[in-house]
Amino acid sequence: MLLREEEVVGLNRKYRRMYDWIPLFYDLLATTVGPLFRVSEVLAQIAEILDVGYDDRVLETSVGTGRQIKNLVDHGMRGRFIGMDLSHGMLRRCRRNARGWQIDLPLVQANAETLPFEDEVFDVVFHIGGINFFEDKESAIREMIRAARPRGRIYIGDETQKLLEEQPSVLSRFYERADPEVYAPPLQLIPRDMLEITRHELWDDKMYMISFEKPWGK
Ligand SMILES: C[S@@+](CC[C@H](N)C(=O)[O-])C[C@H]1O[C@@H](n2cnc3c(N)ncnc32)[C@H](O)[C@@H]1O
Repeated sequence: MLLREEEVVGLNRKYRRMYDWIPLFYDLLATTVGPLFRVSEVLAQIAEILDVGYDDRVLETSVGTGRQIKNLVDHGMRGRFIGMDLSHGMLRRCRRNARGWQIDLPLVQANAETLPFEDEVFDVVFHIGGINFFEDKESAIREMIRAARPRGRIYIGDETQKLLEEQPSVLSRFYERADPEVYAPPLQLIPRDMLEITRHELWDDKMYMISFEKPWGK
């Protein structure tokens, strides 16, 4: 645990409380309702976009219950994965899942907005599914860039407003009817000197992914 409790404020505090309670439900939803929404197609799209080389050091910020890393491994990627998350409940479930899946996955409890890693240590840093409701998206992106090595690849994805509009009512309690800005891909927060900044549309535009590379000397 590398978290300064006094730094967990605002939206981060609110959502950590929620995620601490729902890990089992989160996984149940993924395995039961997931197939109805063609989630495996989205996972395949994600695996197509993420470029993980053999033995790459890979950090997932907001690893949740580990499903994205399992997906990458299922698609043949053999990186050295590390997961971090704010929620102890999600991490506990993730540890259990990783054991069951026989994936070696060190886990760290921390805040994505103040990552407890040295500069430039990861070949790939990725995030999927939490940033829309981070307290400070800009710091989270800055920290991902800091932790990536030069020419490292960075990926940031989350749901769009379209998912919110099309979701069935059973899911509505988990998605806040917030300002559409909240669901907009945070392209304006990516420093202009990053390389190959690309926005991908996934899942019939119900999810976005931004990918880019960190240049030398940043
Ligand atoms: C919808 S889940 C996504 C989990 C996983 N990436 C996936 O795609 O299945 C969002 C995750 O973001 C985490 N989270 C929320 N705020 C965070 C923060 N400030 N720092 C790190 N993780 C955070 C939550 O605890 C939760 O596990």
